[in-house]
Amino acid sequence: MASIIVVGASGEEKTLEARPGQTVMEVIRDAGFDELLALCGGCCSCATCHVHVEEGEGAETLAPMSDDENDLLDSSDHRNDRSRLSCQLQITDALDGLRVRIAPED
Ligand code: FES
Repeated sequence: MASIIVVGASGEEKTLEARPGQTVMEVIRDAGFDELLALCGGCCSCATCHVHVEEGEGAETLAPMSDDENDLLDSSDHRNDRSRLSCQLQITDALDGLRVRIAPED
């Protein structure tokens, strides 16, 4: 079990329990953050699960970005060097304390 900290578009901040086997997107969606649309359900084809990963525990252990993820993020006006698609981020115990901010909607 890990805890991740999520900051919503309005600045609302929640600490959420996350289990290995879930993705960061699933944890955020299940917590009721409506602004994370995740329209494709995690198939890496919509980019509506865009988050900015802030410095924090485990950030350096995240899996590298795939070409598909990289291409999708290029479609966002809000891409920066901390951008990831949260459906591509698998929860592991090493992510305990990770902090992510939901990117503004494009
Ligand atoms: S939910 Fe569609 S790309 Fe992540």
